[in-house]
Amino acid sequence: MARRLRHALLWLLTSWRRAAVALAGLAVLVLGGVVLFAWLGIYNIAASAGHLAIVDHFLRFGMINSVRTHAPDSPFPPLDDPALIALGAAHFEAGCTFCHGAPGRPVSPAAGAALPPPPDLADNVDHWNDGELFWIVRHGVKYTGMPAWPVAGRDDEVWAVVAFLRRLPGLGAEGYRRLAGGEVQPDDASAAEIAQGQAPPDLARACARCHGGKGPPASELVPRLHGQPEQRLLGAMHDYAAGRRRSGIMQLAVNDLDEPAMGRLARYYASLPPLPPASASPPAGVIAHGEALARQGDVARDIPPCLSCHRPGSRPDYPRLAGQPERYLAGQLRILRHGLNGASPTGAIMTPVAKRLDDKDIAAVSAYFSSRPPEPEAAR
Ligand code: HEC
Ligand code: HEC
Ligand code: HEC
Repeated sequence: MARRLRHALLWLLTSWRRAAVALAGLAVLVLGGVVLFAWLGIYNIAASAGHLAIVDHFLRFGMINSVRTHAPDSPFPPLDDPALIALGAAHFEAGCTFCHGAPGRPVSPAAGAALPPPPDLADNVDHWNDGELFWIVRHGVKYTGMPAWPVAGRDDEVWAVVAFLRRLPGLGAEGYRRLAGGEVQPDDASAAEIAQGQAPPDLARACARCHGGKGPPASELVPRLHGQPEQRLLGAMHDYAAGRRRSGIMQLAVNDLDEPAMGRLARYYASLPPLPPASASPPAGVIAHGEALARQGDVARDIPPCLSCHRPGSRPDYPRLAGQPERYLAGQLRILRHGLNGASPTGAIMTPVAKRLDDKDIAAVSAYFSSRPPEPEAAR
């Protein structure tokens, strides 16, 4: 029997043409078997059934190697940056805890019953280097429920989350609460204020974790909404909700809000007094260049004066820049320059201006506006 089989195999393999036909036949058989297997529904896809230990190991082995192969190895921003960590922590609270839990908070039982169950990240992030963590959060993992970052082109936001993940191991429940801003509350309001609709809507608690309540935002990468025109705030929320302005962080934050809720939040933040400027006066040379662009623009390069649009009393759907953190302003200018907000009606107005600014201009105008005290709308 064994000899016959050996002879048959030899006969097949001694001619490359016979071998090719045999291989093709084998492939058709295997493929047919696979289709039959799927069609009969023999395989139990129930998450509750779990995987055999060997399948589990094999899938994990494949996942780890795939991430290692695809992950970038430079360039990375400094991940010990407190502004990145604070922003990443606040987004983690909104976007990741449902599945992964957080210090002092268990994974939701619903997410925990998935296959594979989302791992506790504090125990797992040390197995990955920075580029690998970035790649996982940016692209997600197929067939596991681990989602990709919801928008393209915003690697800066992904890095904020990675910076926080680096901080996560060893962070206690208390430290996490402080970092993710769970305790920041908007101003306590009197019953009379609530009745008049001036009080912070309960909804604002979720926003205050990033945008601050009485005080400024915890991270320099987050804008101050205090005293911005109501119509501007509402317009920006609509743009995020519709995906016309790309931000994975803000898209998630406005996702659950209906129109009346957005209106109340816009009214609330517009009613708050503007905060003092985010930064002290920058060096004189920088001021001179930033101020010249702001007041006169640069005719030779077709740059209009920024203040023709960014001042109190200008159109109510335009943002005011005075007093915003320098890093926020510079970051937004780079995003606008890349055309990422071009689909929004207001973004389409600013995008051509931003494209004419070079890095030196961006640094100078951001330093200039961040050192300017904001003027209230009424004082026009
Ligand atoms: C819907 C559930 C879900 C959400 C939301 C989710 N994840 Fe995951 N995540 C998973 C699952 C499931 C895995 C396991 C993937 C695997 O084992 O291949 C995972 C794996 C990971 C890993 C790799 C850990 C390891 O060693 O396997 C990281 C890092 C991670 N997630 C970070 C995040 C971050 C940061 C967020 C929020 C921006 C997030 N996840 C949101 C379900 C989720
Ligand atoms: C996890 C942090 C976080 C949370 C929570 C958050 N925001 Fe934001 N918000 C940001 C960041 C970061 C930006 C800048 C995003 C970008 O790059 O476009 C922003 C931008 C905005 C802007 C645009 C400002 C402008 O003039 O361009 C508005 C309006 C806004 N947020 C309102 C809200 C409201 C209302 C809530 C609560 C429902 C909220 N945000 C919750 C971080 C957050
Ligand atoms: C023709 C009017 C106009 C001029 C001139 C103009 N801008 Fe703008 N700018 C806008 C509008 C409208 C937006 C809102 C864009 C959006 O919604 O994405 C904006 C947004 C911005 C933002 C983002 C702010 C935020 O909170 O979202 C910055 C920073 C900015 N402009 C800086 C400048 C600088 C610096 C100049 C001068 C070099 C300038 N702008 C000139 C209309 C203008």
